[in-house]
Amino acid sequence: MGVGRVLFTADQIARRVAELAAEIRRNGPDGPLTVIGILHGAAVFVNDLLKHLGGETSAEFIEASSYGAGTVSSGRVTLKGCGRVDLAGRDVLIVDDIADTGRTLAAVRQAVGAMGPRSVRTCVLLDKPSRRQIGVAIDYRGFQVPDAFIVGYGLDYAGRCRDLPHIARLDEPTPSPRERSNS
Ligand code: IMP
Ligand code: MG
Repeated sequence: MGVGRVLFTADQIARRVAELAAEIRRNGPDGPLTVIGILHGAAVFVNDLLKHLGGETSAEFIEASSYGAGTVSSGRVTLKGCGRVDLAGRDVLIVDDIADTGRTLAAVRQAVGAMGPRSVRTCVLLDKPSRRQIGVAIDYRGFQVPDAFIVGYGLDYAGRCRDLPHIARLDEPTPSPRERSNS
């Protein structure tokens, strides 16, 4: 197993991140924006997005995990760090690296919604719609990706490959539907 075909080069990612930030700012809010980044996968994306969002943008990070050491989601989402952030009355943008089943984004959306924000929007760099199990609104998406495990630009496989400047498929057989439904 290794890193397979490059899906998006560093240049393509940089251009798309700048476009997304422009789109986010065009749609408002005009005032302060609070970005909630979902660790660890979204760290690289959030940091690049912040450079383009400008204005009064602050960033907080919470931790969400549903994967163990492999490529198959455990199906349970554990959140850590929500208690640290005060989102009452804030305009919030939740940012994750990738939407797969939708569980992580849905869990974070619910937790953020319970903190009394003024508005909540969601943004993912990558969207794997063929794998969705939970309906969750995605307001901004960078790229659509096929049903494969993706690495690079912050996305890891068992802690590896986050440091790749590009986004690539992991070169291994896709888990079978049976493996997935049991996960
Ligand atoms: P979901 O909860 O199934 O939508 O999965 C979303 C989370 O799982 C993301 O925050 C990622 O951290 C991780 N994830 C899902 N698919 C991939 C992938 O293809 N590569 C790396 N991480 C992934
Ligand atoms: Mg994640």
